[in-house]
Amino acid sequence: MSHFLDIHKTDPADLRQMISEAGRIKQMRKGLPKGTPDAEQVLANHMVALIFEKPSTRTRVSFDVGVRQMGGQTMVLSGSDMQLGHGETIADTARVLSRYVDMIMIRTFEESTLLEMAEHATVPVINGLTNRTHPCQIMADVLTYEEHNGSIRGKKVVWLGDGNNVAASLIHAAGQFGFDITIAAPETLQPEAEFVNWARNKGVEVVLETNPQQAVEGADLVVTDTWVSMHDSQTTKERRHNQLRAYQVDDALMAHAKPDALFMHCLPAHRGEEVTSSVMDGPQSVIWDEAENRLHAQKAVMRWCLGK
Ligand code: CP
Ligand code: NVA
Repeated sequence: MSHFLDIHKTDPADLRQMISEAGRIKQMRKGLPKGTPDAEQVLANHMVALIFEKPSTRTRVSFDVGVRQMGGQTMVLSGSDMQLGHGETIADTARVLSRYVDMIMIRTFEESTLLEMAEHATVPVINGLTNRTHPCQIMADVLTYEEHNGSIRGKKVVWLGDGNNVAASLIHAAGQFGFDITIAAPETLQPEAEFVNWARNKGVEVVLETNPQQAVEGADLVVTDTWVSMHDSQTTKERRHNQLRAYQVDDALMAHAKPDALFMHCLPAHRGEEVTSSVMDGPQSVIWDEAENRLHAQKAVMRWCLGK
């Protein structure tokens, strides 16, 4: 069994294998009603706990549907309803849950919660987003890019806005899948140096840029996300908006990218803030495929975790 904690902590050959497996799994169920079981019932007799300490639409529904299609059963738990939120240690929670379920997916605040869960669980633990990273999202993004425009290796990916948890996993993916990445953000909102240095040491180009137009020049993929994440204090909202206004992805900015460049957003989006509706609903946007691909990519992740 293996934990899926982060893209930079997972073997690149395994990541590559998961992407091709996800594509195969997706093809297998093309056109079927969503409740139809997968031909391969790899999670038959398996119970999966989905723990949420933050809100979620995509992660919650895609994991729940994915497990069920693979023949397993789910239990969706909210952190605040569990003893976890009332003083029981994460380690003890991990030990107990491991006696009831075969796999744990957790969305939480501090990365240390995820790591402690993984250290003490005797079943695989999957990172469904922490304040620091969001690896499942980026697995879906790589799958989405490659479905539309072929191999992502050597491509130029540009991130605009807050250098947040999603940006961090995208930087990890740059190192593991071999693409170059430019982060366009004000200096105070650039991603963590630790992640940037990690990717640079893998031999890919990581450019930190403050000018959005210059950053997007020649891009193959343009990505953005909310300016204020779930773990950010709402009091920073106004300051963030002022700092990031110039990084909004609009048609004029997209015009600096290659003509066949794609646009992605992990969602939920704030239309008219980090991205205009015209880009979200425009011909270069692949956001709905991206959201769908959470389902297929995570099935591949879960199979890998269980060695199936
Ligand atoms: N992209 C993503 O993780 O969405 P949710 O917060 O709705 O799960
Ligand atoms: N950066 C966002 C991603 C949501 C899926 C957040 O953490 O709120």
